Amino acid sequence: MLELEHVVKHYHSGGEVVRAVDGVSVRIERGETMALLGPSGSGKTTLLLLIAGLLRPDLGAVRHRGRLISAMSKSEASEYLLRDVGLVFQSFHLMPRVSALENAARKLLLSGVGLREAKARAEPWLARVGLADRLDYPPEQLSGGERQRVAIARALACEPRLILADEPTGHLDSQRSREIVHLLNAVAYEQKASLLLVTHDRDAAELADRRCVLRDGKLVDTQEHSSINASTGRLDRVRDMA
Ligand SMILES: Nc1ncnc2c1ncn2[C@@H]1O[C@H](COP(=O)(O)OP(=O)(O)OP(=O)(O)O)[C@@H](O)[C@H]1O
Ligand SMILES: [Mg+2]
Repeated sequence: MLELEHVVKHYHSGGEVVRAVDGVSVRIERGETMALLGPSGSGKTTLLLLIAGLLRPDLGAVRHRGRLISAMSKSEASEYLLRDVGLVFQSFHLMPRVSALENAARKLLLSGVGLREAKARAEPWLARVGLADRLDYPPEQLSGGERQRVAIARALACEPRLILADEPTGHLDSQRSREIVHLLNAVAYEQKASLLLVTHDRDAAELADRRCVLRDGKLVDTQEHSSINASTGRLDRVRDMA
């Protein structure tokens, strides 16, 4: 379970204070999915970086499964990022000249899993993002959308307890975007992980259990998921994709 308690992060640049995250409190349970909406500059990426332990808040606490992320040492934070967090950002940081499969296995390798096992565990994730026929391709020979999907497979292959996705479908067409957002929701549900998905896409946000809007660093609107549950049922839809 992820818990933020009055988290504040202000940037100081050129004599000005930017209140990027300004007193955010929120909880996401295990297996729960939340979409985070909000205009450009409202603090969404900053909030994800704070949760990932890549930034420290000025005030407040970030807790994951009882551990205080916001007070971890550098080495504890990188261990947490490696083992507990599946981070999907818009920049993919794939390794050049290395196959899609080895790229997808990268986090497992870094966390000490042997090459053969890491590849065996990563392969089904590449298949789930639709790249079963691209295992041996290096990033240079993949399209932008394919690279994005390799990065998503890499994030999911370590079976993270927390999935943080910052507009993860920016390079994908609408059909493929829908599939990836379904997949992220399905994985969170199957693995009892918490998913926080930043998106500008209302349809993608509809698939989450809850939606929050960030405005000027403040969480201003939280709605329970209702329409899909009432009509078709989210779990059925998610299972269709699993
Ligand atoms: N390193 C930094 N130094 C100073 N200001 C920053 C820094 N990073 C972000 N900001 C400012 O903090 C605010 C929030 O930025 P953030 O990247 O979190 O927004 P966002 O909601 O992710 O926007 P977008 O939808 O465009 O990605 C913005 O006003 C931005 O200019
Ligand atoms: Mg952003």
